[in-house]
Amino acid sequence: MVARFRIVGGARLHGEVQISGAKNSALKLMAAALLAPGISTIRNVPDIADVDIMAELLTRLGCTVVHGAGEVKITVPEKLSHRAEYDLVRRMRASINVLGPLVARMKAAEVALPGGDAIGSRGLDFHIKGLEALGAQIHNEHGYVIATAPTGLSGAEIVLDFPSVGATENIMTAAVLAKGVTTIDNAAREPDIVDLGEFLIAMGAKIEGLGSPKITITGVKELSPTTHETIPDRIVAGTWAFAAAMTQGDITIRGANASHLEVPLEKLASAGAVVTTTTDGIRVHMENRPQAIDIATLPYPGFPTDLQPMVITLNAIAVGDAIVTENVFEGRFMFVNELIRLGAQINIDGHHAAIRGILRLSAAPVVATDIRAGAGLVLAGLVSDGITFVDDAFHVDRGYPNFAEQLQALGADVTRVE
Ligand code: EPU
Repeated sequence: MVARFRIVGGARLHGEVQISGAKNSALKLMAAALLAPGISTIRNVPDIADVDIMAELLTRLGCTVVHGAGEVKITVPEKLSHRAEYDLVRRMRASINVLGPLVARMKAAEVALPGGDAIGSRGLDFHIKGLEALGAQIHNEHGYVIATAPTGLSGAEIVLDFPSVGATENIMTAAVLAKGVTTIDNAAREPDIVDLGEFLIAMGAKIEGLGSPKITITGVKELSPTTHETIPDRIVAGTWAFAAAMTQGDITIRGANASHLEVPLEKLASAGAVVTTTTDGIRVHMENRPQAIDIATLPYPGFPTDLQPMVITLNAIAVGDAIVTENVFEGRFMFVNELIRLGAQINIDGHHAAIRGILRLSAAPVVATDIRAGAGLVLAGLVSDGITFVDDAFHVDRGYPNFAEQLQALGADVTRVE
């Protein structure tokens, strides 16, 4: 049975939430565990569907994966199989993160092409060019990327056209076992990249420049398994911060790392929120209706594209007009049509959205198109008059552990209905 969220509008969210590990780190750490035979343990893993999909993928590659209580233990054999099937890759794009580790360790990988999704076309060209520069031979066949490196990989100087998160990760997790030195220029700087790099360093890799636009990797012969704690999920934390501001509430977000959210928190302050950094998190408190805020999404440390639906929703009920520019994913305004069903006044022109704030939205049934759009629509339901239904709740489950329960604990009338 397909689940939907039922949201009664009107609550001012107040109380505390606890942030778990970052989805987009944990999944990459799990894939990188393939680089070392033995048992690697990843702690602070969120309780979300995508972690189960990655566990299934690693199991099919020959690993034994035990998952429970926020921890994943991966036993990696000496010999792995090297094919990531379409049925898993299509459900979760992060599956392509096994490409780099498999080519590096097994000298071969066959990974299904993920295809497009609801946020855009999302190419793989930077991943492929990077791995080719390291000496892999790559072609596409029957919907799969087939990569081989019969004589192993060698270091290279790689310049990315765009600081792609996934490409930086796949290149980094291949280069750690290549002969010689690899440099990645215009590398992604996201905290997830730093987390992955630190995991690799703990396994014995030699990496410098993490968090900067130039990463230097000196290949080593082999890596050893390790234990690592995932960083907190900055996008989930940011979602709660926006939820507090748009509902004129007061939320303490425990376990969040404010330094990963500098730009979003500054923007919330300019919307009128009182943002305080506490010893173990962030408190966002809002007394009045938010002021409209202009935003342009950019690679880290810029404003994250994953919080763009939250900022559009906030602007929909803010005082004044705003322009939100999406620079990372071409298709990420798709959910705006759903928001318009709730009465939001938004005009899209290419990758700009012009939003005129109104006092309240008006409840209606809408559909989640991806994880972040789904979360944004649930929050939109909270600032709507009446009862909103958000269909296809499974999208939200992929990124937000126990979202309805957490909203209830903050005083909202939100339930999941089957
Ligand atoms: N791109 C290319 N060619 C490539 C790689 C990327 O054209 O070879 C383009 C993409 O099409 C996109 C842009 O470059 O327009 C950025 O893509 P990037 O590779 O940086 O993103 P990603 O690795 O596919 C990750 C997160 C996304 C997050 C982005 C940006 C994971 C599993 N996904 O995607 O998270 O929005 O980085 O920060 O880590 C989400 O969690 O909801 C989500 C979509």
